[in-house]
Amino acid sequence: MSAGPGAAAAPPVGLDDVRAAARLLEGVVRTTPLEPSAALSELVGGPVLLKCENLQHAGSFKIRGAYTRMCRLSAEERERGVVAASAGNHAQGVALAARLLGIRSTVWMPAGAALPKVEATRRYGATVHQAGSTVDEALVHAAAHSRATGAVLIHPFDHRDVVAGQGTVGLELVEQAAAAGHDLRTVVVCTGGGGLVAGVAAALSALAPGVRVVGAQAEGAAAYPASLAAGAPVTLDRMATMADGIAIGRPGDVPFGLVRDLVDEVVTVSEESLSRALLLLLERSKLLVEPAGAAAAAALLEHPGAFEPPVAVVLSGGNVDPLLLLRVVRHGLAAAGRYLGCRVQVPDRPGALSGVLALLAEADANVLEVFHTRTTTTLAVDEVEIGLQLETRGHEHAAAVLEALAGAGVRVVG
Ligand SMILES: Cc1ncc(COP(=O)(O)O)c(C=O)c1O
Repeated sequence: MSAGPGAAAAPPVGLDDVRAAARLLEGVVRTTPLEPSAALSELVGGPVLLKCENLQHAGSFKIRGAYTRMCRLSAEERERGVVAASAGNHAQGVALAARLLGIRSTVWMPAGAALPKVEATRRYGATVHQAGSTVDEALVHAAAHSRATGAVLIHPFDHRDVVAGQGTVGLELVEQAAAAGHDLRTVVVCTGGGGLVAGVAAALSALAPGVRVVGAQAEGAAAYPASLAAGAPVTLDRMATMADGIAIGRPGDVPFGLVRDLVDEVVTVSEESLSRALLLLLERSKLLVEPAGAAAAAALLEHPGAFEPPVAVVLSGGNVDPLLLLRVVRHGLAAAGRYLGCRVQVPDRPGALSGVLALLAEADANVLEVFHTRTTTTLAVDEVEIGLQLETRGHEHAAAVLEALAGAGVRVVG
């Protein structure tokens, strides 16, 4: 029967497409674990399950879409090679899929892409070029490369096969949740261009229509809320987030239609919540997740009452630059009262510094760093300032340490 005028067009990706992608991916991708999280379950008031795509080959879900797309290239297209643009995860997914399929790959990455992601992409066998400061800018170079050389552009999210491949995450997590006896009510998915959340929604809308699908974007790079409000993809004029994987300035056309029709809500999360989520997953679940990969977990931290359990949270990737990890961990520890930085002013006489250190030892604060200065304008000639970096057990302990100093007559100035 042909569709009459006014009949709704079939969505570009449906459950059958996702199932077909799952068959292609058999033996290629890992069925990543779906792990319960005690910490998040307590917060939400019901079961929270973590879909660990940070443990996927090449460190993120991206191999699913890249392999599905490239598997369907003709022999002639494969001969021409492929080209992609990415901040890192799609780059690695494309490079690994190309190696598995025996295809030449070239990847354009932004100039500031994390070094470990650049190196990993090269190790998987891709030729890497760096240009532009965002993925959108790198994409312009990749498209020009494709026009000049005939290499097939593998878009990170704006293609039916890519969306179908990413959707296999949704298939898997529904089956795994059911096998563990959970009747899922909500799935929260980290969202950039929208390929992952669109694929998951395409699978779930047919397979488990009662499940609410929610996208999570970084507040500083949230193209979806504005685009959904406008009824069409809009381009952000600037982005600011540490979550490089989801810093995408414009939703893809293919994912946008699916998100508009099938995703229940797109929420945003702050940088603070991203770092708290990363730290919680590391400390409580022993899972290393990159900031983009922690966006869905951050949404639970930020809006704990907004998601009906059982909730599945997609941890979409784990490729994090150790230097960024160091900064995030320090920031998260400071926010939790586990670091205390302060300055004290004391008389400039022998024994003054050791007196302060003795007080700190008594208060059970571990000294990490000490700076000693005599030249600040707020000091009298016979005073010194001591800057202290201390390890404390939490906010209460930090307050008790400051009280112990003040109680002993030490002037705390900041
Ligand atoms: C770790 C991670 N999470 C989420 C996403 C967002 O995927 P999409 O662009 O399909 O929304 C990306 C994209 O690169 C990513 O690397």
